[in-house]
Amino acid sequence: MEVIIQSDAEAAASLVARMIAKELRANAHLVLGLATGRTMESAYRMLVEMHKRQGLDFSLCSTFNLDEYVGLSPDDPHSYRHYMNEHLFGRVNIDLRNTHLPNGLAPDLDAECRNYEASIAKFGGIDLQLLGLGQAGHIGFNEPLSALRSRTRVKALTPTTIEQNAPLFGSEEKVPRRAITMGVGTILDARRCLLLATGSEKASIISKAVEGAITALISATALQLHPRCTVVVDEDAARQLQGADYYRWIFANEPEWAEFR
Ligand code: GLP
Repeated sequence: MEVIIQSDAEAAASLVARMIAKELRANAHLVLGLATGRTMESAYRMLVEMHKRQGLDFSLCSTFNLDEYVGLSPDDPHSYRHYMNEHLFGRVNIDLRNTHLPNGLAPDLDAECRNYEASIAKFGGIDLQLLGLGQAGHIGFNEPLSALRSRTRVKALTPTTIEQNAPLFGSEEKVPRRAITMGVGTILDARRCLLLATGSEKASIISKAVEGAITALISATALQLHPRCTVVVDEDAARQLQGADYYRWIFANEPEWAEFR
């Protein structure tokens, strides 16, 4: 795992956007795993800028999102499909037919989960998986005790997650109780993982995720098993990291990061 500390949330999002852009330029057929949440909004805004100003081309890439709420239609303003259309898909030259999210309205949710896994496999697997971090330490909606080898399935949301997402819905009662999410195992199968976490409210959970013991209680700790996982944080989120100086030294001195400094 590599940890990169940037001065603020904008700089962290900019680094993530530049890393995604580099992969996309190297492989026009990139299969991107995407995440939602407030943290990602800046990263998507920067990718949209790169598309407009530098012609960053999304026309041949395909995407698979981590998760979707059960019971929300794609045009519900709270659905993750709507979020993705608003923040990225509707603003770049991506072919919507190549964008995938689980269907939270599928009549047979288990079949939908199996089909989602099959679809990822059909596209050759995910090249680069973008991840946010929930307050409960989840990636996607892999709530505490999610099996570290789990696959795409329906998960019941924890009270912490419901509370965290309530402001987006207006009240806790309106937050769906279940979601379809890629499993921890599905995420670990991606060739590369890139996690973005910013703000002081993520400081405690990011230190547990990166430096704590691997536990199903905090699904993000499973990323420590991934051979190529980069974690990008801002100074506020890095405050409780024991190894911060070492991580800073690596980013400042190792040749592979020269182009991103
Ligand atoms: C939701 C999503 C996660 C995301 C998390 C963080 O729970 N399912 O994938 O990482 O929100 O959201 P935020 O960036 O708003 O803190």
